[in-house]
Amino acid sequence: MSRQGFALLLVTVAISCAALWACGGGGGGRASSATPTAGTKGASRETAGARVFRTQCAGCHGTRGQGNLAPSLIGIENRLSVADQTAVVQNGRGLMPAFTTKLTAAEIAAVVDYTRTQLH
Ligand code: HEC
Repeated sequence: MSRQGFALLLVTVAISCAALWACGGGGGGRASSATPTAGTKGASRETAGARVFRTQCAGCHGTRGQGNLAPSLIGIENRLSVADQTAVVQNGRGLMPAFTTKLTAAEIAAVVDYTRTQLH
């Protein structure tokens, strides 16, 4: 490898490290706000519905329900009744997997409520 090539490699590595450090450090500072207000993103105050959504649904529907591999769930409360939406989560539909064996009825109710009220 030429001297120039090696220098370029060093710079690239340095930039990647800086980027990683910035990403890793960025979240930590904000988590310690003393008085949580409605809508704070702190994972420690997460509701059951938010936790289920983050761990089970966000991978396909996006962290804010904005859609990713799967369609957006924003405004789902205007498109489906609670019963219909619960049925989709329980039984699946198309490429959407069923969750009856993975989640309790209470967890499904919580995540349905979360998607109807907390996604904007
Ligand atoms: C493996 C990817 C995947 C995961 C994980 C997933 N979904 Fe879905 N979901 C989909 C796809 C794909 C569709 C569209 C289904 C269709 O075309 O009929 C969908 C559709 C839906 C719908 C109907 C949307 C509409 O507009 O009619 C709801 C509600 C829904 N998902 C909720 C959830 C919830 C709640 C979770 C977590 C418990 C979840 N999904 C997890 C892929 C996923």
